[in-house]
Amino acid sequence: MVSTGAGISAESGIKTFRDADGLWENYPVMQVASADGFRRDPELVHKFYNQRRRDLLKAVPNGAHKALVELEKDYDVYVITQNVDDLHERAGSSHVLHLHGELMKIRSVSDPDYIESLDIDHLETTPATRGRNGDLMRPHIVFFQEPVPNIEKAVDLVRRADIFVVIGTSLVVYPAAGLIQYVRPGTPIYYIDPNPASTAGIPGVHVIKEKATDGMKTLARMLYEKR
Ligand code: OAD
Repeated sequence: MVSTGAGISAESGIKTFRDADGLWENYPVMQVASADGFRRDPELVHKFYNQRRRDLLKAVPNGAHKALVELEKDYDVYVITQNVDDLHERAGSSHVLHLHGELMKIRSVSDPDYIESLDIDHLETTPATRGRNGDLMRPHIVFFQEPVPNIEKAVDLVRRADIFVVIGTSLVVYPAAGLIQYVRPGTPIYYIDPNPASTAGIPGVHVIKEKATDGMKTLARMLYEKR
């Protein structure tokens, strides 16, 4: 079970949120990524995610995304990601669960279950964008102040993990950051991050203090040595 955050996509050129020059240093997070912010100024929020989509189009999966696909030859790999990019899918991962939504999708403002994929030639949305069913649409993003619909599925997956890997997350945004607490006692945990958060209080974490691409090589070596 692999839990990924913005750091895994950093080497693809996608900015993280909380590193120096990260997104939240340049945009007021509660204006562009909260339910209140969306109510107050939906135009600004649409513009913010239009820009994120343009950035994503220029990006390609990096060695860390690909290394997770490679591991599927020998392991049942499930990715639980906080990322809204589609780089795990483009790399070829078979099982990807998005906790915070998906940039390349929009959803109905009135019906959270009505979701459409954006067509690559029509990635710009505005508060007037309508879905094929006529509903007004919004970015398919879980805003702060909203529940995380996939968290229960994620907890179920983590409870069944034989190995738990965390890559590139500051472990500050809940409930995602709390997933690690559901790992069964004795399960090996690996945390790849060049600037890892404190894991004091979580027993048995092997911290690999490296960027995602290098860290995945180290992890693969460690896993295969044990087999
Ligand atoms: P953060 O920006 O909070 O943390 C990024 C993490 O990636 C940090 O721990 C960095 O040290 C690490 N990092 C940076 N470069 C790296 C690299 N090359 N390889 C590996 N790790 C690297 O991002 P998240 O923890 O993903 O939510 O943020 C969680 C949530 O906060 C996001 O999903 C987003 C945001 O607000 C929403 O917008 C709902």
